[in-house]
Amino acid sequence: MKNYVEFNEWNIIENGFHLGKNKIYESFMSLGNGYMGMRGNFEEDFSGDTLLGTYVAGVYYPDKTRVGWWKNGYPEYFAKVLNAINFRGIKISIDGEILDLAKAKKVKDFKRILNMKDGYLERNFIIVSKNDHETKVSVKRFLSIDTKEIGAISYSITPLNYDGKIEFTPYLDGNVTNEDSNYDEIFWDKVSEKVAPLYGEVTMVTKKTAYTVTCAMTYSTLIDGEEINVVPETVIKDKYVANTFNVSIKQNSTVTLNKYIALTNNRYLELSELSSKANKLVLNAKNIGFEKLLKTNSDKWHKQWEESDIVIEGDISAQQAIRFNIFHLYQTYTGEDSRLNIGPKGFTGEKYGGSTYWDTEAYCVPFYLSTAPEEISKQLLIYRYNQLDKAKENSAKLGTKGALYPMVTMTGEECHNEWEITFEELHRNSAIAYAIFNYVRYTGDEKHLISYGFPVLTEISRFWASRVNYNTFKDKYMILGVTGPNEYENNVNNNWHTNRMASWTLEYTLEVNKLLGEKYPTEYAELVSSLGLKEEELSKWQDIITKMYYPRIEELDIFAQQDGYMDKEQILVSELNTSNLPLNQKWSWDRILRSGFIKQADTLQGIFFLSHLYDKEFKKKHFDFYEPRTVHESSLSPCVHCILASEIGYETKAYEMYLRTARLDLDNYNNDSDDGLHITSMAGTWMSVVYGFGGLKVMDNMIEFNPFIPKSWNKYAFKTLYRGHLLNITVSKENVSIELQAGDNLTLSVYGTQYTVKQSKPLTLATKKATV
Ligand code: BGC
Repeated sequence: MKNYVEFNEWNIIENGFHLGKNKIYESFMSLGNGYMGMRGNFEEDFSGDTLLGTYVAGVYYPDKTRVGWWKNGYPEYFAKVLNAINFRGIKISIDGEILDLAKAKKVKDFKRILNMKDGYLERNFIIVSKNDHETKVSVKRFLSIDTKEIGAISYSITPLNYDGKIEFTPYLDGNVTNEDSNYDEIFWDKVSEKVAPLYGEVTMVTKKTAYTVTCAMTYSTLIDGEEINVVPETVIKDKYVANTFNVSIKQNSTVTLNKYIALTNNRYLELSELSSKANKLVLNAKNIGFEKLLKTNSDKWHKQWEESDIVIEGDISAQQAIRFNIFHLYQTYTGEDSRLNIGPKGFTGEKYGGSTYWDTEAYCVPFYLSTAPEEISKQLLIYRYNQLDKAKENSAKLGTKGALYPMVTMTGEECHNEWEITFEELHRNSAIAYAIFNYVRYTGDEKHLISYGFPVLTEISRFWASRVNYNTFKDKYMILGVTGPNEYENNVNNNWHTNRMASWTLEYTLEVNKLLGEKYPTEYAELVSSLGLKEEELSKWQDIITKMYYPRIEELDIFAQQDGYMDKEQILVSELNTSNLPLNQKWSWDRILRSGFIKQADTLQGIFFLSHLYDKEFKKKHFDFYEPRTVHESSLSPCVHCILASEIGYETKAYEMYLRTARLDLDNYNNDSDDGLHITSMAGTWMSVVYGFGGLKVMDNMIEFNPFIPKSWNKYAFKTLYRGHLLNITVSKENVSIELQAGDNLTLSVYGTQYTVKQSKPLTLATKKATV
């Protein structure tokens, strides 16, 4: 099945129940608010295939690393974001029969809908029981983006052809496990349970990390909208509390259970406050009521959309996809807490442990720079600044100097569990340096360099200076034993991306060194002294820049991905029978490593980062060589190719790449949507539209656009914040219109010509025609 969901501009709709594909839909239907999140699991019992997931941001467990052959230098643990207290649970029994969609005689008119405009999840169906009783069920739930500790569920049941008795058991359950636990350990210990009529509370603490989480619940019951009194039986078991009660209900009347939850944790509160705060919040939520809470939440989502929506006319599938991506990004990270970051799967699954990867700097920072106030992307940079000491420890453990940021981390400590594929990906260090450059280039916030940027740049540069090795025969510096972004080549020498980005980091650090020395001498002097920065270091960095070695393919006048790349059999993806794809599911690892196929943008990723340093001809030559060899088996790949293809005028190719990134999860392109969504690559999809089709760049303190419109679109529009200005860019087949919605007059560049835009006076120009 290609189309998992109906095409709809604002909704993700599962039409009809897909028992065997439930995990895929659970991923699509995930909810989050930056503080906590949950997969689209059902509230009632479900015995079918499911991945249960409720996650609390920053609450993790250091699961002991599991590897085949322990090598010195391996981290002790792999951080896991934890499946936390199940607060969505409502057990339902209809006339004595447990409601379980996997066991029902028949399920009719099933729809599960993620409403992205208003920020909630809805589910409607009719269930037919063994004795042919038909019952309509309608459920709505959301996690509040207004009061982040709060969530609410409205669960309605209507008997359609009988008078019946419904038993409700709203509960909280701390008996949860992680599917990806390395040694089948339970990660939580119980602290306490409390139960009373209309109330339940469970407090759990993580083993080793001692994160304490309290969840409180209360509820109200209504018949046809009128609140009724119920006399529940209270249930208390190990890590579990519930209330059980029966409601007799007439045919065509509706009984509704509104369940409210509040979740607190000791990352923000004292232990002694957890219970009282959760109690207060949940009772307050109940007082406000489900509909009002939902309305406040929807209003907030509407405001979010006003600032960050992308509108596409003429291609509903593209419209749906881009909103799906933006929605999930904002559900994952909202930037209030610099200790938090963006896991590649966000709150939608366990894979990648919820940890931070280079994805943040390479993909997410640009998204937040344009769509949120600059403090939000700055938080992501401060996250790394705060982990600088840990990065220095990581480097010292390897016997190198300076700072080596981890490839996978929660707190700054490295916690990968694969050496060649993950750990050797040293390019993350340069991506972190690059994000500083990117942030300062975009915002103009030079002072960031003094407070945070320069120490990070200096320590990363120190790492590179001690990690390179000098080849006396060639009089060149080399970087050996790395894995570049292309994970289908491991432990290679002189990966171009790694060498170039390392050298660029040194160049940029020297540039910042000069800038601070000239413009901020007092602060600079303090920095030099606290960092112990020596002249010899600066000249050493310069020497490395001058003598960095880059592998080349002379006949084509391009850079080679790494030493020996051309020794490989040069087959193009188009020459492969498609039955071989995806390679990572069809070929042995040995065969993949021997082949020249490239998992994800590698040389091209470096060229994209340093786009301001290379001309079109250079980009085109490299694109022509690398794109036909790239299988894009990382979700992070097609967007980079889309942006470069757009820039060199390969519009058709750019659109093809866009389609691969935009609907990657919704169309289950890589056959892995069941274990969660590719949250970080969603930022790449956004970049494909704004940087690719829209041609947004910031060069020499000026924002530039170079838009074209894909053939199948009639119009698209996006917004971008830029240095206190809000711009609305609309591109149709005929015109490009740039409207200044907030801020003073702004001089910008469109198709290479400068214009000054003023509020209420949109700039309108003819749209560039597509070339290829
Ligand atoms: C990619 C990495 C990425 C990681 C997490 C891998 O498949 O190759 O570049 O950092 O996924 O998204």
